Amino acid sequence: MDAGMMSAKTAQPAFDLAGWSQHHLDRVEQALGHWVGEDAPARLGEAMRYAVLDGGKRLRPLLVLAAYEAVQNGAGDMDREVASRAGMDEAALRAGMDEAALRAACAVELIHAYSLVHDDMPCMDNDVLRRGKPTVHVQFGEAQALLAGDGLQAFAFELLTPEDERILPAVQATLCRQLARAAGSAGMAGGQAIDLASVGLALTQDQLRNMHRLKTGALLQASVMMGVACGVSTAAAQKALADYGAALGLAFQVVDDILDVVADSATLGKTAGKDAASDKPTYVSLLGLAPAQAHAQELLAQAHDALAASGLADTRALAALADMVVNRSY
Ligand code: IPE
Ligand code: IPE
Ligand code: MG
Ligand code: MG
Ligand code: MG
Repeated sequence: MDAGMMSAKTAQPAFDLAGWSQHHLDRVEQALGHWVGEDAPARLGEAMRYAVLDGGKRLRPLLVLAAYEAVQNGAGDMDREVASRAGMDEAALRAGMDEAALRAACAVELIHAYSLVHDDMPCMDNDVLRRGKPTVHVQFGEAQALLAGDGLQAFAFELLTPEDERILPAVQATLCRQLARAAGSAGMAGGQAIDLASVGLALTQDQLRNMHRLKTGALLQASVMMGVACGVSTAAAQKALADYGAALGLAFQVVDDILDVVADSATLGKTAGKDAASDKPTYVSLLGLAPAQAHAQELLAQAHDALAASGLADTRALAALADMVVNRSY
């Protein structure tokens, strides 16, 4: 489509997601490569780097950065007010916010990478392939995989709390709280516990939705809200982006369930057909393939509606990421 054409859905100029993503992916890759420790002892750093570098769609970092940009573009006078209250000049405040957003983008990816390392272990999903490579426990052994996950999780919070005060302490605290809540028993870890306890069970749609919202949706929604927390925004925009994150987060796992059935291992970079083989309840096992696909499209429409209600001037990156989540092939 011509870049000057308007998108029918958003009445905003068409958006080059590939170009936008490449710019931000380069920043995230460089930062992760720089930060994730090779200096950890006894090959632990090697296992951590193997888990997080060089692979993955990096959806969560992109959501952080897209949400941050969406709120920053409309911040205007609110930005100046926050700077004057904090006794900082506006340029210093903006530089600190930019750095917070990049750190938040990397921190959520570290939590996600850790969750994958543990999800693949024999005591959980027992998978041998991840991101097109042998899983961490296959490559480094189970104990090292456990520790690599531990190391990645702890490092995420270290990244969010740099020692100097370029990033407002209140922002650092908010980011830590959001990430901890999404990763812990009220989020990913809790959802994973439900997942393991649900093998062989026929869950109701409410129960399945709850499991998916926790195990996957919480971290995706937190990615959006961490981007929001790095900037300045109205309560209405925050509510709308929380709704967007909730719809997108659930849609993501519905599509993950669908891809497990329709895609092959080479395309996915992980073992296909694993859910049925392990007797896991999924949207496909509960609803059937076509209704699950229709449900993903409904959730996508909800995500777009939330963006339209946000009052934000430019939500094209968030809109394009939602389309990508639901229409992806891996
Ligand atoms: C896979 O997540 C695990 C789930 C939460 C379903 P992704 O599909 O985002 O995995 P990567 O990061 O691209 O490898
Ligand atoms: C895992 O869900 C979600 C996580 C918290 C890692 P899945 O078990 O469906 O993820 P995949 O399909 O192995 O990536
Ligand atoms: Mg799992
Ligand atoms: Mg799994
Ligand atoms: Mg899956």
